[in-house]
Amino acid sequence: MAYKVILIENNRVMLERLSSVLRGVEGFELEARFQQAGDALGQGAMYQPNLILLDIDSGHNLALIPEFASTFPSAAILCLSDNWDANNAARMVQSGAKGYLLKPFTAKEFLEAVDTFGKTGMAASSETIAFFSPKGKSGKTTLISNLALSLARKSGEAVGVIDADLQFGDLSVFFNLSPKSTIVEASRDVKFLSPVTLNSYFVEVPEVDKMKILCGTKKPDYAELVDIHSFEEVVKMAQSLFRYILIDLPPGFNPISISAVELSSRTYLTAMISGGYEIHHMKRALEIFKVLPDCDAKIKPVFTRVSPCDENQRRWLSNELNFEVNAILPNEYLMVSAAANNGKMAVESKTNSPLVANINKMADEIIRRGGAS
Ligand SMILES: Nc1ncnc2c1ncn2[C@@H]1O[C@H](COP(=O)(O)OP(=O)(O)OP(=O)(O)O)[C@@H](O)[C@H]1O
Ligand SMILES: [Mg+2]
Repeated sequence: MAYKVILIENNRVMLERLSSVLRGVEGFELEARFQQAGDALGQGAMYQPNLILLDIDSGHNLALIPEFASTFPSAAILCLSDNWDANNAARMVQSGAKGYLLKPFTAKEFLEAVDTFGKTGMAASSETIAFFSPKGKSGKTTLISNLALSLARKSGEAVGVIDADLQFGDLSVFFNLSPKSTIVEASRDVKFLSPVTLNSYFVEVPEVDKMKILCGTKKPDYAELVDIHSFEEVVKMAQSLFRYILIDLPPGFNPISISAVELSSRTYLTAMISGGYEIHHMKRALEIFKVLPDCDAKIKPVFTRVSPCDENQRRWLSNELNFEVNAILPNEYLMVSAAANNGKMAVESKTNSPLVANINKMADEIIRRGGAS
């Protein structure tokens, strides 16, 4: 079935330009076009579009989205704008639009937008989860890889992973990926991107629907090409694409990790048990996080390689920290390293293990919380 499209664009030249792009796209029929949103609504009964492209830069078009949604109940609404604005994006989704496309667009960008937003629509609300570790080798990347897969499988919703461990990010190694674009290109280009075009910087994970990764730098010295402001823009834009965003971070307090914690709705503070000092490091990190007004709700300590890995031990660790430990993962070196070496995560291959059970429990809790918010 051909898509029937209505285009609303105030600028005459732009209207012509976009019309000619749309006329060249197979499978789409430009049913009507208007300069004024009011005219489109007034003559609405004559048309039965299934796609509306609405310029939101002029007049009060943004405020008219609910009226478009009720006049054309079987149409998806994609908004058109000269530039990306995270606040506008949130408002659009709340009023019933499915997505956002920068203009002018090419046929390829238009098709990508329909494909990206046509299936699920923009994420109406997004949960951004940062993974912070006071020191390196905390089991953080192992946790993220498995938790992301578990979340994607269990929720059936879009999960995006951002590798912001700028110098030594290794998520692409965990998943055997050879990315064409990374966080370096995404941050460099973000000024000119919208969610649809940012989506193509994320790499798909083979055989996993709904999960994509924005891989880390290819060389440690590329890290300095990513400035904080652009990184933050990338995360905010990704919030329109993914229901859950998981951010891997370099160890310790640094500008990137601090900014990711600020952007997150929850932060897992991870440390691996190996001798005892890590409890000390965790306490010191918590002291710093306690200045956050929402520290108790936001910061979730997790210990990996815990033995015995049981409720008593979790309570003991919570007592030591004087702060509730959210989750503990058992010592499973052989399992996690074997799984990562062949690009398959433990949650895929070792479904009966205690490690997988605990990671699945974390995913369940995130999904439950998301549903309640
Ligand atoms: N639950 C676990 N039990 C035993 N070993 C583990 C566990 N989780 C991870 N490891 C091992 O610990 C090492 C570090 O894990 P990982 O790379 O996930 O940590 P990280 O905090 O991301 O490290 P980095 O600081 O290098 O980014 C790896 O060899 C991994 O196989
Ligand atoms: Mg890591």
